[in-house]
Amino acid sequence: MTYNEIRKVFLDYFEKHGHKIVPSASLIPNDPTLLFTVAGMVQWKGVFQGTETPIAPRVANVQKCIRAGGKHNDLEDVGFDNRHHTFFEMMGNWSFGDYFKEEAIAMSWELLTKVIGLDPNKIVVTTHISDDEATAIWKKIAGKEAIRLDKDNWWAAGETGPCGPCTEMHYDFGPDVPGGLPGMPDEDGGRYVEVWNDVFMQYDRDASGNLSPLPKHNIDTGAGLERWAAVLQNKLDNYDTDLFVNLKRAVSDLTGVKETDENKPSFKIITDHLRSVGFAIADGVIPSNADRGYVIRRILRRAMRHGQILGHRGALLSELYPALIKEMGDAYPELKHQEKRVVEIIRNEENSFADMLQNGMKLLESELPKINNSMLPGDIAFKLFDTYGFPLDLTQMILRDKNISVDVDGFEKCMKEQKERSRADTRGTKLLWESQTDLPDTIDSEKYDTKTSSSAKVLAILRGEEFVKSANTGDEVEIALDHTPFYGTQGGQVGDMGVFKRNNDIVMNVAETNRVGNVVIHKGTLVAPISVNEEIMPEINQNVRQQTARAHTATHLLQAALRKVLNDDVEQRGSKVAPDSVRFDFSFGRALTAEEKQAVEDLVNKWINEDMPVSHEEMDIESAKKRGAMALFGEKYGDRVRVITAGDVSCELCGGTHIYHTGEIIKARINKEKSISSGIRRITMSVGALAE
Ligand code: SER
Repeated sequence: MTYNEIRKVFLDYFEKHGHKIVPSASLIPNDPTLLFTVAGMVQWKGVFQGTETPIAPRVANVQKCIRAGGKHNDLEDVGFDNRHHTFFEMMGNWSFGDYFKEEAIAMSWELLTKVIGLDPNKIVVTTHISDDEATAIWKKIAGKEAIRLDKDNWWAAGETGPCGPCTEMHYDFGPDVPGGLPGMPDEDGGRYVEVWNDVFMQYDRDASGNLSPLPKHNIDTGAGLERWAAVLQNKLDNYDTDLFVNLKRAVSDLTGVKETDENKPSFKIITDHLRSVGFAIADGVIPSNADRGYVIRRILRRAMRHGQILGHRGALLSELYPALIKEMGDAYPELKHQEKRVVEIIRNEENSFADMLQNGMKLLESELPKINNSMLPGDIAFKLFDTYGFPLDLTQMILRDKNISVDVDGFEKCMKEQKERSRADTRGTKLLWESQTDLPDTIDSEKYDTKTSSSAKVLAILRGEEFVKSANTGDEVEIALDHTPFYGTQGGQVGDMGVFKRNNDIVMNVAETNRVGNVVIHKGTLVAPISVNEEIMPEINQNVRQQTARAHTATHLLQAALRKVLNDDVEQRGSKVAPDSVRFDFSFGRALTAEEKQAVEDLVNKWINEDMPVSHEEMDIESAKKRGAMALFGEKYGDRVRVITAGDVSCELCGGTHIYHTGEIIKARINKEKSISSGIRRITMSVGALAE
């Protein structure tokens, strides 16, 4: 049976037994306690707790899952054994107060032994030590003596919430494979593999660990598709089943390297990470420095490191993504629908990390001979993190083969010190820049149109509290240029990110751009030395720019929609426009009703779908006023102003960066509406990939 056929067999069986088949939920859970969807039951938590009504008393699905952060984290193990994945598919059936233990066990048993034809003698079952009932059912239905365990047979999605005892079914690969029975010290040997877990969801656990009964008795089961494929194809290694063989072939074709016993971990890691990164981004995760975005960035960077081990340079997962679509796109059409966007996001990440990976490896290799206690000093791990973008776990993974660990406490100490420094910096540097009275205003008009300006001249470098003539690799600096395409934070819009280059090599990673008066200040970390008067090429991160620009145009549409749905007295009182996210403050005397909020969101989305042109024009203030351009309350404008017009619905004076068609916003979603002071309301809205 092929990997893709198993899904159908599973779902057909449960459909025949009265279950409603539902699609996989998103990998981004609607649940603040989890970074990712870690199991099929995540979308049913509220149903178990009695706060949501189920769509049917019995349902089944195949759920996309990621276990790579938080309580359920398998990231470190991927590549180094036969079974771990960060992304996997969990097949499951659920009963919401309908059938309970006996019927659940009977169906699992029938499907395993009669439908997919596993040898009943090769199945070992376990139950919870307290669960006489499930133990007796196994005896009656299958003549099986269950092994009774404690911790392993109790399942919970998180620290709090629905949980209960469970029964597991394990497949025996036979005595030739090393490994002991479940519960034995050598259980991880590989001989017995868990193929199904039936959880009897009976309790709700609160924050202090107390159990109270759930309103109903429920069933939650989970069966790993990858493991079923391994058992049915008689492969000891999940990564030797048909789907992975095909993905590994794509890796081989791209890198020109054949899989061997030696490089097998790299093949596993790349194919696994292709699935988690591809699926997560298709579901709307954007690689970033926080939360799930950082988990995905870390996974992507680990994959690139393994590409490098195979001798491959440059784009990796973005090149492999079509192979993923080929294998899994029929079951998950979103992979195909999002192809362009996913490939672009991955490629951007890969581009910005490729050089840093090379340079960081050089640094690491030069440090290795100095290590004497099998431990990399924390400050080196921190430098790799801070200057070369190596997540801590990437450094750990690289050193794992060499049996070298990382001084994690030392790493964290450096991290803490840097946070304190940067807090002090933001207080102090404005005054320092203001003291540079000779510094000319930065010419930054090209921020409205160009990606790379012609080369620009370094005028001043601030390191710590000192203006210096030159600075070195690894230094945190702030730099002023004679001209720049970077947008410095102003008018509520956050500044650009990007790089400075010299002959195509990155010299500096610019993490933020600010303004002090009319001087644009680029802040970031040097990847190579830099000196005053030298020419460099500033280059903005187009991806982030686009996300910010679409958020800014969306802010204008939001204001127009609020005026239409509420009334014309609504006026902007402040805003923060960041990549794909908007915070908008406006004058209005009461909370919006749910209908009003929906109407505003719908109207914004209608305008997005109409794909109206957005014009950017410079004119004198009088002409702008004649046009009826809205100005911001209390704001001073110069004689020449920019006017941003979206179709016939919005016309505003604005110095920010914008898109050219409303369709580029893709989608808008209002997240929250609340009061921030008397008569002032605040709306937060997501757009683009985040909203999707
Ligand atoms: N929630 C249980 C698990 O993840 C059964 O689906 O194993």
